[in-house]
Amino acid sequence: MPRFNRLLITGAAGNLGAVLRQGLAPLATTLRLTDRAGMGEAAAHEEIMPAELSDFDAIMAVVKDCDAVVHFGAAPMEKPWAEILNSSIIGGYNVYEAARRHGVRRIVYASSIHAVGYVRREEGADTHTGHRPDTLYGLSKCFVEDLASLYFHKFGIESACVRINSCFPEPADRRHLATWLSFRDLVQLVTRCLVAERIGHTVVYGISDNRERFFSNEKAAHLGYQPQDSAEDYREKVEAKCPPGDPFAPDIEFVGGFLCAVGHPDDEA
Ligand SMILES: NC(=O)c1ccc[n+]([C@@H]2O[C@H](COP(=O)([O-])OP(=O)(O)OC[C@H]3O[C@@H](n4cnc5c(N)ncnc54)[C@H](O)[C@@H]3O)[C@@H](O)[C@H]2O)c1
Repeated sequence: MPRFNRLLITGAAGNLGAVLRQGLAPLATTLRLTDRAGMGEAAAHEEIMPAELSDFDAIMAVVKDCDAVVHFGAAPMEKPWAEILNSSIIGGYNVYEAARRHGVRRIVYASSIHAVGYVRREEGADTHTGHRPDTLYGLSKCFVEDLASLYFHKFGIESACVRINSCFPEPADRRHLATWLSFRDLVQLVTRCLVAERIGHTVVYGISDNRERFFSNEKAAHLGYQPQDSAEDYREKVEAKCPPGDPFAPDIEFVGGFLCAVGHPDDEA
């Protein structure tokens, strides 16, 4: 018996959206998928509704009749301010406000390690560590995490803000040995955020069971997330390919990696 009648995934055409489209299917009778990019053909259990996140009326229509939202649509990296503002900040507001007006009770939000990117590796962080964004991208994640807090405390919409570290098929560099999140663990984590009895406003780090890690999920144990994969299985391959770097270079000093070293996106190249 599926947990939801209709579950919405935003950013469904994206890399992680495609993983969740498969992985979350058992949770809902109907998966509603939205993105501004093409999402292919709808399967029998799917509804496809293209929409621009910054268009409030379009997002109102997309959120209508959904029981929960998995909000992964956004500028996925550092981008010019106009794009961060429209896709991620206004887009995030539109999703939460449409959810409030339609009575949606729970949202899982794709936040990022870049909300705390200027934490030093050896300092580490837990889920109560304050924001320390490393980019306008990270700042947009801080905004939506705080929006989620407001909409929980004032309007009772529960949220899990998943600070995804590095979710790719496999770890690509030495930093990923600490930050990797497998696709299988992503699906489990989002599932737990959707089905755990109470989540309130929870922040959780999206990481697999890596030996090295920068973050503790101890205070998010109520989600029941138990990662199955580990970057350790790829260590030999990664270390053979990537020599160790300078520990004082910003991309190694801080958990945000190379985004800690980039300038303002609107500066002339
Ligand atoms: N992949 C990772 O390791 C990682 C790490 C941290 C956070 N995240 C977050 O997870 C989410 C998904 O990331 P991804 O790697 O799948 O990125 P992606 O670029 O593949 O997917 C993002 C999707 O959002 C859509 N989108 C962007 N702006 C839009 C707009 N204005 N209107 C409608 N649709 C819009 C894009 O078309 C795209 O399909 C993002 O919010 C990203 O910030 C990902």
